[in-house]
Amino acid sequence: MIVRQLGYLGLAVRDTAAWQRLLVDRLGCQPAVGSSPERLRFRIDDRSHRIAIQASDAERIDYLGFEVADAAAHTELVERLRAAGHHVVAGTAEELADRQVLGLSHTVDPAGYRVEFYYGPTGDERPFVSALGIPGFVSGALGLGHVVIATPKYEQTLRFYQDQLGFRVSDHITTGGMEAIFLRCNPRHHTVALLRSAPDTEESEFHHFMLEVPDLDSVGRAHDDCVQAEVPISYSLGRHTNDRMVSFYLRTPSGFDIEFGTGGRLVDDATWDVDQYRSISFWGHRPLPTG
Ligand SMILES: [Fe+2]
Repeated sequence: MIVRQLGYLGLAVRDTAAWQRLLVDRLGCQPAVGSSPERLRFRIDDRSHRIAIQASDAERIDYLGFEVADAAAHTELVERLRAAGHHVVAGTAEELADRQVLGLSHTVDPAGYRVEFYYGPTGDERPFVSALGIPGFVSGALGLGHVVIATPKYEQTLRFYQDQLGFRVSDHITTGGMEAIFLRCNPRHHTVALLRSAPDTEESEFHHFMLEVPDLDSVGRAHDDCVQAEVPISYSLGRHTNDRMVSFYLRTPSGFDIEFGTGGRLVDDATWDVDQYRSISFWGHRPLPTG
């Protein structure tokens, strides 16, 4: 698979202070070197940063950063995208410095999100230290987590991630009110999932991104802490059917969710068969009013 992982995520938000409190005080991320009040950066592992948050007068997903192995893979992917008719733009020196990567290009996926392809990320030699005592996130070569996007351009977006970026289908979930497909680019069960939008929906919607921790106690403590701090919980604790993750969802100040969980299963390509599921969760994940 030419894309190796979801390496970083860029958000533009109105309330950076609320995001800082959420990511650091509630979920245990670490402020990264180079953060400023206008541009916050957060670590979850030994990378320089995984999440960048830009102060803005609008709420939006600025970019999804997908990692490829090296310069040759980057060139190959850019040529493949251009051959398929996509408009691909080379990153500027400022963008490379900001993302702290050696090489970068970007395009827009059919759902409307800016996707960046990069190689040569920068590490941070200092140990990752979580103020909450989280021993480390489940990331590394598996990437920062996953993103879930609801889009009316379901088929086109699926083709983009599958045919152009080389993602493989892990499984499908079809319930009464929902159709979703789960795509992987490494052993993490899914790095991108797509939800089919309701008919007559025009805009794609960013549903959530997921951060994974290595133990259930870290999830339970974060859940307790979110409840205590009155962070809105959008879906109760539960275990998903397909990736087996035990998680809860909280509503961010930008209106979409973060899933915070543990125990996501890994896929072995040699033995994996695609399944379909008729429910999202074995138990829990009840939708809750978020006010
Ligand atoms: Fe998720």
